[in-house]
Amino acid sequence: MTGLVWITGASTGIGRAVALIYARRGQPVAASARGADQLADLVAEAGSAGHLIHPFPLDVTDRAATAEVVARIEAAHGPITLAILNAGTHQPSPAATFDAAIYDRLFQVNVFGVVNGMAAVLPRLVERRAGHLAIVSSVAGYGGLPSASAYGATKAALINLAEAIKPELERHSVDVSVVNPGFVKTPLTDLNDFPMPFLMPVDKAAAAMVRGLDQRRFEVTFPRRFTTILKFLRLLPYGAYFWIVRRTAMK
Ligand SMILES: NC(=O)c1ccc[n+]([C@@H]2O[C@H](COP(=O)([O-])OP(=O)(O)OC[C@H]3O[C@@H](n4cnc5c(N)ncnc54)[C@H](OP(=O)(O)O)[C@@H]3O)[C@@H](O)[C@H]2O)c1
Repeated sequence: MTGLVWITGASTGIGRAVALIYARRGQPVAASARGADQLADLVAEAGSAGHLIHPFPLDVTDRAATAEVVARIEAAHGPITLAILNAGTHQPSPAATFDAAIYDRLFQVNVFGVVNGMAAVLPRLVERRAGHLAIVSSVAGYGGLPSASAYGATKAALINLAEAIKPELERHSVDVSVVNPGFVKTPLTDLNDFPMPFLMPVDKAAAAMVRGLDQRRFEVTFPRRFTTILKFLRLLPYGAYFWIVRRTAMK
C-alpha cells in the first residue's frame, strides 16, 4: 500500500513513531492530534521526509470537527488509503473510590474518538471500495484487570467493534485491523507506577505495527510472547484467572 495514511494520536508515542516510519519510506501522512506544536515538531523530526507529513490538528471527541478535517485532508492530499485510529488515553479507575467522570473521559476519547473517525472516513472507503481501517485497542481489552475497569472496558469495546465490522466491510473491499499492543514505553505508560512486563521501546512497537498492517492482518499484536500469555490466561476458567490476577496484577 502506498497511498495516504491518516493517523490520529500522532503527536506522541506510538502514533508519532508510526507516522515517522510511513513518511521515511515515502508515504504521505496526515497527522492528527490536539497538540499542534508537537505535530510541527514531528514534521521537523522527519527531516528530509518532513514534506510528506501534513499536520491536521484535531480533537477526536469533536465529531463535526473530525468530519471536517477528513474532508480537508482528502481535498488537499487525495484519498485516504489507510486510517489508523490510534488516539487514546489512560487513567486508573480504582473501584473502591469509583469516579464516573473517569469513564466519561476515557469513553469519549478511546471509544467515541474512534467512532467519530469511522463516521468521517468509512463512507469514503466504502464508496471507493478500497482502503484499510486500523483501530488501536490494547491487550487490556482481552480481560478485566484491577484498576483498569474504565480503560479496559473502552479497549474491549474496540476489539468487539472491530470483530463485528470486519466481515461486514470485507464485502465492500475495505480491510479492518485491530492493533493490540502490550506495554510500550510512551508518555502514556510513563505514568504507570507498577512493573510492566515485556515493556517495548516505542520504535520497535511502531515497526511491528507497520509490519502487521502491511500484511493486512486482522489482529496486530506485540510483543508476541506477552500477548500470547495473556490470550492463554483468557481461556482459563474464572477461578484460575482471578487466582493469577490477584497474584500478578494487584498491589
Ligand atoms: N503505550 C502502551 O503501552 C499502549 C498499550 C496498549 C495500547 N495503547 C494504545 O495506543 C494508543 C497510543 O498510545 P501511546 O502509548 O502512544 O500514548 P500517548 O503517547 O499518550 O499518545 C496518545 C496520543 O493520542 C492523542 N490524543 C489524546 N487525546 C486526544 C484527543 N481528544 N484528540 C486527538 N488526539 C488525542 C495524543 O495527542 P494530544 O494530547 O496532542 O491530543 C497523543 O498523540 C492509545 O490508543 C493507547 O490506548 C498503548
